[in-house]
Amino acid sequence: MEHITINGTDVAAPEDARVSLLDLLRDQLHLTGTKVGCNQGACGACTVLVDGDRVLSCLTLAAQAAGRSVTTIEGLESHPLQDAFVERDGLQCGYCTPGQICAAAAMLDEVRSGAPSYVTPDLGAEHVALSRVEVRERMSGNLCRCGAHNGIIDAIMHVAESEKQEAA
Ligand code: FES
Ligand code: FES
Repeated sequence: MEHITINGTDVAAPEDARVSLLDLLRDQLHLTGTKVGCNQGACGACTVLVDGDRVLSCLTLAAQAAGRSVTTIEGLESHPLQDAFVERDGLQCGYCTPGQICAAAAMLDEVRSGAPSYVTPDLGAEHVALSRVEVRERMSGNLCRCGAHNGIIDAIMHVAESEKQEAA
């Protein structure tokens, strides 16, 4: 039987090939931190990481994650973004927050690896300078209906700047 590693624990992949990763997480494993928003790829509430890359779990079949490593918001419990979101008012109702934090964690990795975005001025540059415009573009797949977007950007910038200072 195929396995999926979820937050470090191996679980059996569902036998029914039609089960989405989102439904596996919430309905079968009771990892309800991952939220169902639109269930059709438009809001980002269901974002999780598969082998470190962000994916929309409502549009991903659980079978596609077989043999891979999935991280949900429960697996990012000690990530510095958690405190930053609280301290910088990055959440209000909090419904979109798990997806925002998962997307932000992966986004910061993308920036560290030099991956450009649609608004990166120099596509050939080895290092991408993180700006609020960059964060806005890179987080544009995650909607927050109560409008915490500015707090979310503040939180992400804070974590990125703290990392830069620690590395200096
Ligand atoms: S629930 Fe998956 S993108 Fe909205
Ligand atoms: S915190 Fe309410 S939708 Fe984002």
